[in-house]
Parts: sequence; C-alpha cells; structure tokens
Amino acid sequence: MKKEEIKNEIERLRKEIEYHNYRYYVLADPVISDEEYDKLMKKLIELEKKYPEFSSPNSPSQKVGGGLISGFKTIPHTIPMLSLDNTYNEDEIKEFDARVKKLLNKTEVEYVCELKIDGVSVALRYENGNLQTALSRGNGIEGDDITENVKKIKSIPLRLFKPLTIEVRGEIYMPVKEFERYNIQREEEGLPPFANPRNAAAGTLRQLDSSIVAKRNLDSFLYYIVEPEKYNLKTQWEALQFLKELGLKVNPYSKLCTNIDCVIKYWKEMTNKRTDLDYWTDGVVVKVNNFEYYKTLGETAKAPRWAIAFKFPAIKAKTKLIDIEFNVGRTGTITPVAILEPVNLEGTIVKRASLHNFDYIKEKDIRIGDYVYIEKAGGIIPQVVNVIKELRSGKEKEVTPPDKCPVCGGPVGKLTESEVAIRCLNPHCLQKLKRHLEIFVSRSAFDISGIGEKLVDKFVDARIISDIADIFYLTPFDLAQISGVGQKTIANILSQINKAKNTPFHKVIVGLGIPLVGEKTAKLLAENFEDIDKLANATFEELTSIEGIGPEVANSIITYFKNEKTKEIIKKLKKAGVVLKTQRVEKSDKLKGLTFVITGTLKNYKREEAKEIIEQLGGKVTNTVTSKTDYLIVGENPGSKLTKAKNLGIKIISEKEFEKLIKS
Ligand code: IVH
Repeated sequence: MKKEEIKNEIERLRKEIEYHNYRYYVLADPVISDEEYDKLMKKLIELEKKYPEFSSPNSPSQKVGGGLISGFKTIPHTIPMLSLDNTYNEDEIKEFDARVKKLLNKTEVEYVCELKIDGVSVALRYENGNLQTALSRGNGIEGDDITENVKKIKSIPLRLFKPLTIEVRGEIYMPVKEFERYNIQREEEGLPPFANPRNAAAGTLRQLDSSIVAKRNLDSFLYYIVEPEKYNLKTQWEALQFLKELGLKVNPYSKLCTNIDCVIKYWKEMTNKRTDLDYWTDGVVVKVNNFEYYKTLGETAKAPRWAIAFKFPAIKAKTKLIDIEFNVGRTGTITPVAILEPVNLEGTIVKRASLHNFDYIKEKDIRIGDYVYIEKAGGIIPQVVNVIKELRSGKEKEVTPPDKCPVCGGPVGKLTESEVAIRCLNPHCLQKLKRHLEIFVSRSAFDISGIGEKLVDKFVDARIISDIADIFYLTPFDLAQISGVGQKTIANILSQINKAKNTPFHKVIVGLGIPLVGEKTAKLLAENFEDIDKLANATFEELTSIEGIGPEVANSIITYFKNEKTKEIIKKLKKAGVVLKTQRVEKSDKLKGLTFVITGTLKNYKREEAKEIIEQLGGKVTNTVTSKTDYLIVGENPGSKLTKAKNLGIKIISEKEFEKLIKS
C-alpha cells in the first residue's frame, strides 16, 4: 500500500470508530457487535503502531491504554466557572421567578429545566474540532489540566462532528452501578469506600495514571457553551440541541417551560423519577432560556442570576435503631452515635448515624428500639432525622447521658454553661490521646501513614505511647511486638517517623492538637511565628493582631502552651530531633534555570517537600532524565534513572550534597 493510501485507511478507520463510539456511548444505541468493534480498533492500533508518522493525539485509539502524568498544571478559565444558588421548595422557586421577571420587566419568562447531575464539572476546549484541553473547575478562576484523564472517558469525543473552535462545559460523573462495583472492589482491597459517586468521580480524575481512568467507566453530560453568540445561538434550548449536533452527550430529560408552574411540575416528576436513573441527581437546574437576558440579569461573584438549583428533598431510609454508643473525641467530647440495622442509603450501606448531642436526642425523643428515618447531611454523613412513633411497641428504652466517661470512667461535664456537648474531663483519658494521635499521624500533620488508627490504639492500650511525642521514641522492638508486621514494614514505618522530624511547621502545629486550631489557623501561626518558642510566648495582643485569629482562639493557644504537660511534650519533641520551626528556605534565585530529577527514596525529605524547596529557590523538578537535566538527586534504591543519567553524563548528587546545595 502507498503511504497516502495508508493514511486514508487510518483516517477511515478513525471515522468509523468515532461513529460507533457515538452510537454506543452517547446514544446508547450501538449498530455493530462488540467483536466487530474490537476488530476495527485492533486494526487501527496496528496501523498506527506500524506507521507512527500518522499517529495522532486525538485518534480514538487514545481512549484505551494510557500513561503516567507527572502532575496537574493549573490553567486560567476563559470565563469563571461559577456555582449556583440553591432553592429547596415551591415558594423559593417562585421567588426566584418573581425576581427574574422584575429585573427583566416581563410578565412571563421561558425556562429550561435540566437535571443537576451530581458529578464534577469540567470545561472542554476544542480547537478546529479537536479536543485540546480539559480543565477541572478548581477555584472557579483557574482549574487543573486534566486533559489526559478526560480523554479516556468514552462518551467524550476527541473530535467533534464539526471542526469548530469552541469551549463547552458539563459534568463528569460515575454511573451508580460502576460506583457500587468500585466500592466493593475498594473494600476488598482494604480501602475505605467512597461516600458518593461525586467523590468517586473526583478521585478518579485526580489519578496520575490515566489507564486507571480508562478502566473506571466515567460518563458525561454537557450543558453549557461559552460565548454561544459566536455560533449564532440565541437560547439555552438551542445550545443543548447544538451540543448534540456536535456529537456530545446531553441529558435526555431537559425540558423547555413557558412558566414557573411547568418548572414545578417537572421538579415533582423528577423527584420521583430520580431513583430509577443510572446516575445521581440532586435537583433541577432552572435556567432562563433567552441568552439576550443574561446581561441584564448579571451574576454575583459566586453564581449567575439567570439560573438556580432547585434541590430535591433528601432521600430518606427507614431502619431500626438497635443501640446507642458513646464516642469520645480528641477534646473529650462525648457524642451519641446510633447503631442501626444496616440499610442502603443512596448507594452505601449505613450501619451508624450521627445523633449530634444529647439535647438533640431529647428534643426528638429518640429511644433505643425505635424505627427511625435517616438521611445524609450534605450528601455525606448519615444522621437520624426523626422517629416513626406510630411503630413503637412500648418496649423502647429512653437514653440517659453517661455520668462518667464511657472509656476511662473519669468525670464528665460541660466546659462552659452554654456548651451543649458533654465532655470527659480527665486530662489523661486514653481515648482522647488515641484520637489525638490519629490526627498527629495523619496527612495534615506528621504524615506517618504506616501507623493507622488500629496501631495507634494498640500502642496506647499497651502503654507504649502515653503522649504524642512518644511516637518519635518507638523502637523496632516496640513495633515488632505490637504491630505483628514484618521487618520490611517496620523499616518503612521507622523511616517515615524519621522523615516526619522534618515536617513543615504549620503541619507540626496541626499535630499538636491545640483546641480550636485547625489547618487554616495553623498556617497563619506558622506564617507569623518562626519557631515553637516564639509561638509559645505569644501574647494575646500579638495573636489577635493576626487577621483571622479571634480572642477565643488566642486564649485557647495561650492556655495550651501554659499547660505543664505541653511543656514536657515540646521538650521531648525537641530532644527527639523534631524540627519545630519554619523550614521554608528564603525564596531566592539560587537554583534558577536548573532542572532536577529525583530517584530513589530520600532519607530526610518527602519528594513533594524536596520539590517545593527546589521550586522556592527558582529551580525545576521533572520526572524524566533528559539531556536538559542538570542534577540527578539519588536516594536509596535508585531506579533506572540513575543509569540513564550516567549514560548522558548528568551530574549525580547524594541527598547530603543536595542539602549542602540548598543551604550554601
Ligand atoms: S449550569 C454558571 N447545569 O452544579 C453555572 N450546572 O452547584 C453553570 N451542575 O458547578 C452551571 N448539572 O458543576 C449547570 N445541568 C446543569 C448542571 C450543573 C450539574 C453542577 C455544576 C455546577 C454546580 C453548581
């Protein structure tokens, strides 16, 4: 075959496969069998392999397989990706309608009703019909470049039916069946299940290996065109039809309404229909149809005034409350938790639910043995919302708040008169220590992932750990005795502990567990006090002069550092060699223009940290050794990068030499 003919054959195959992708993934109406489809794909892949000069980043063959991405670049959005205001009932949606009419000075306005898909929003940029870039919403102003991952989603075409340059937006979601399958798989692998398909979709799109995305069967619905006037579109209804003509997937349930009563009717219909659908939807998006009105209506910083979300009522499940457990948190708060007969609620099996506090139990008259309704607050945390009193047998038991700590037996009480929560007042309650340690080893603090909740509990129960600083004094013997894990894991945990001594200061502060100090406040503190002694000696005035720190938080910090036990812990941490100060190297140009690659495990730095430091000093870190690499930093167990660097004559330095370089 002549080259020209091969090129044509490849193009013909691509067009044919694209058409079948469209039939199968967009219309759900295939016209050939899976075998026939596979044959076409196989042929295309073979030809592209044999004639790489004709390969193309937008060939449908790119939808299978995949490769590693080194991270996500942030890219500004063409126009902000806004969110939507919410309404929850008929009165509120009528108010929205009245507002719109008043602003437009009209007696009737047309609306398009669409399902609000519970997924992750995405912006797709096509150039001359080719998918160029896919961005996540990010902070609305700039998003992450998730192109490689989005390319693996079957219903998103790599080429449009028309060679247009256009930006379209929509939702990427995980179908309910896929979500259930994936959660079962996660549990089998010992991983925590995702709370909802949205988190699962978001988690999948953050993968650095796009072949994982290819396997996960994400799907899409598009609903928005940026600058629709460029394509002569005058209404949202036309825009939806246009998206379809481009070969994009559009949700089939959209409806054009000439008044708000029609919108309410649609919302009611969909409230019943939604549980039959293969994807999650949490409401209806009501959009003014005519684009001409959008300018007049305008938008707030957060949301447009030409659209609103009309949320569905939360899905409830009925189950029996078999017991009430008392949990003790890090600060000693005792919270009642309902133990339930397992029940499926929005795709996950729920066995426990929040009861908030004892006042709530009293107010709702919740008793052990009651049948109750549960729903998910904010779509995630199950809570008991009310009791079905008609189903009472008379045998239900009332709940009395505990008069001593359910864990240590210590005294309980309230910290202040106004407080609702009951707390364990024993400062040495082991349960408090356990929950504190969990935060201490977590990612937001010292990031010692080898020590999880279970291990923490065992160490505390065995009295090997009696305060947070003891983590840094664990010996291989302690670990072997308690964890029951092998040599290799022990070595790994110890190396993590060693690295954790270099934790950035704001994370150290999170780890201390100062009441009322979360990640945000910890960052503020680390920015304003360069080491632990300065922070410990900070006055009320110094603390409250920092924007974002109020009198309550300031007092809590002062009380914390006055405590004798705190002083002891800090001494112990210092003695163990934990760095209790800002390590941020001064920003400079010291490494400007230099490119680094890291291979193997570094003793004292996590990769991201080393990367951060290099970037602070103006350098760059990449993943692959090329002739443009200036330094290869070699840790333990280096990979093939070392050989490659040697072959290319790249300068190779040890971790020690790297430290010298940054500190010089
Ligand atoms: S329109 C300018 N239409 O809901 C705002 N949004 O809470 C344009 N969403 O961030 C949004 N389905 O991710 C629109 N049919 C739909 C939607 C939808 C889901 C999401 C979207 C947005 C969020 C707002």
